[in-house]
Amino acid sequence: MIGIILGTRPEIIKMSPVIRECERRHLDYFILHTGQHYSYEMDRLFFEELDLPEPRYNLDVGSGSHAEQTGKILFGVEKILDQEAPDIVLVQGDTNTVVAGALAASKLQIRVGHVEAGLRSFNRRMPEEINRVMTDHISDYLFAPTENARENLLREGIDDKKICVTGNTVVDAIYQNLDIAKRKVSILQDLDLRPHEYFLVTAHREENVDNRDRLRGIIRGLESLQKEFSMPVIFPVHPRTAKRINELGIDRDGIRVTRPFGFLEFLQLESHAKLVLTDSGGVQEETCVLGVPCATMRYDTERPETLAIGSNILVGTDSAGILEGARTAVTWKNHWKNPYGDGIAGKMIVLVCAAVRSN
Ligand code: UD1
Ligand code: UDP
Repeated sequence: MIGIILGTRPEIIKMSPVIRECERRHLDYFILHTGQHYSYEMDRLFFEELDLPEPRYNLDVGSGSHAEQTGKILFGVEKILDQEAPDIVLVQGDTNTVVAGALAASKLQIRVGHVEAGLRSFNRRMPEEINRVMTDHISDYLFAPTENARENLLREGIDDKKICVTGNTVVDAIYQNLDIAKRKVSILQDLDLRPHEYFLVTAHREENVDNRDRLRGIIRGLESLQKEFSMPVIFPVHPRTAKRINELGIDRDGIRVTRPFGFLEFLQLESHAKLVLTDSGGVQEETCVLGVPCATMRYDTERPETLAIGSNILVGTDSAGILEGARTAVTWKNHWKNPYGDGIAGKMIVLVCAAVRSN
């Protein structure tokens, strides 16, 4: 039996190919949702539009400090794993859900599979970096998306036998949903946008939006971008960011702030954008796969493959850097090859998990 633990928007999206494959093979599995994300447009919406089965459990942990959230998840997951006794638990990515889910399982001597293992920004000030490192070191199966991720793990002394390079499940998720998005959603018309004549933005990293200067820098950078190119800037805001923008009372000249979109709408917006500006991990990958230039509003990235192939540029968070980086990136033509695999990561992961039997 496979236990799939997830709790946030990107985990639902990137685990969806794994869940689909478990369904297709009629495997014995269950979904444990921690409830880290709970607002409709950060959670339920994705179950509905990706047609995913209901989680068997939801811990409803909600928001809180890192220790509070991680502690609640650890406590709740342990009880359920004790009862269900799966042969293997799968976690995806680098959130508090991931580190707590993996730790609860490993203390119960349940095997842990880490999907998207081996990513490193080498910046321990990011909470996600701590979660990644800890999760990788307590996992038994490390599903690395790229050779570079595998090398990061080997450098930290992790046994090569535990590592399997699968590609990133985000590619599966894109391939499985791009055509559906074309048929089902019409977000460009809804927002009165023309292809390649708008910028798309996301920002939610704690170190960016919880820092007044950085958030101001981002907003100013977007304003100057809008002025220079005279094109709409579409900014679907994450709830963390919405809260901070309201608290700071930043005026947002020329930026169209919207609700967070569903995955189908967001995919469509990404694939037709002139340029995407983001601090998201998943969005750096998706733009690279979709052949759209990306400017990452950070000073480092755990997705260096995108920099190496020339789909992404680090522009920082001050307004001048954002404008300058955007000027460069808008000139790029899609000549790069996607480094994240050919869309069979979910199948490979499930194949490995299906062979695991507990001691
Ligand atoms: C979390 C992850 C981050 C990931 C992101 C994906 C950690 C440490 N962070 O960040 O790695 O990139 O999810 O989006 O695990 N909120 C709502 N509704 C929700 C969820 C959150 O209103 O459904 C608000 C709350 O005010 C909350 C804040 O957003 O305090 C932050 O939520 P939280 O889950 O702590 O972190 P994220 O910024 O979402
Ligand atoms: N996404 C979405 N709607 C939005 C913004 C993002 O569906 O309005 C999707 C996006 O396509 C990607 C994922 O959310 O698959 C990225 O999640 P997020 O940026 O919250 O987290 P990160 O990847 O940084 O952990």
